[in-house]
Amino acid sequence: MTLRILGIGSSLRNNASSTIALSATLEIARKHGAETRLLDLKQTRLPLYDPTENQSAFEIKKVKDDVAWSDALILSTPDYHGSMSGAMKNFLDYFWAEFAGKTFGYICASHEKGLTAMDQMRTAVRQCYGWSMPYGVSISDSDDFTDGKMTSKLEYRLEMLARDLVVYGAILRQQFVNDMGSSDNTFASRYKKQS
Ligand SMILES: Cc1cc2nc3c(=O)[nH]c(=O)nc-3n(C[C@H](O)[C@H](O)[C@H](O)COP(=O)(O)O)c2cc1C
Repeated sequence: MTLRILGIGSSLRNNASSTIALSATLEIARKHGAETRLLDLKQTRLPLYDPTENQSAFEIKKVKDDVAWSDALILSTPDYHGSMSGAMKNFLDYFWAEFAGKTFGYICASHEKGLTAMDQMRTAVRQCYGWSMPYGVSISDSDDFTDGKMTSKLEYRLEMLARDLVVYGAILRQQFVNDMGSSDNTFASRYKKQS
């Protein structure tokens, strides 16, 4: 299958390192045969999630269309207080069943490896029955960029993430889609109606 990967950039900073790295990862994924879209939350400003409000705003519809289109996602965030950015958490709050059976990769720009931020994104994804890649890519501005350009060491890590997500994401997605259409006792079969 041609895997459709949606990248979520969630820093509102100009020239954010997490979004630069995300764009590069999507570009590499395309070389591995994936189709990709970038959803940069700096450009597409989602209203603060409110379950009681009408969600017909143009931005919400666009984001929902992108998520429905995707087979796999990459969540990229700056480390804010050991956690993901508010923009990323707000994006995640809009979804639940739409994440089931999709594989997620993680990128975090941090001075401290961003492990707790990535763990919290994993927790949200697990709560929605998504799969997570077993590792994430941590970025440090000072070590991984020279004169605004990514170092080859960072590119090496992003190449691994892109390649692995295309390969494992397609296997897991294909199995999930097959299981959705089957009457076997699998967790995927309960998503028949939503997908
Ligand atoms: C509100 C705020 C909180 C932050 N908290 C942390 C933190 O807890 N740990 C850390 O390593 N860096 C922290 N940082 C630094 C950013 O994670 C770091 O500058 C990152 O590279 C920014 O990524 P970006 O270029 O994608 O925006 C914080 C920055 C801000 C603005």
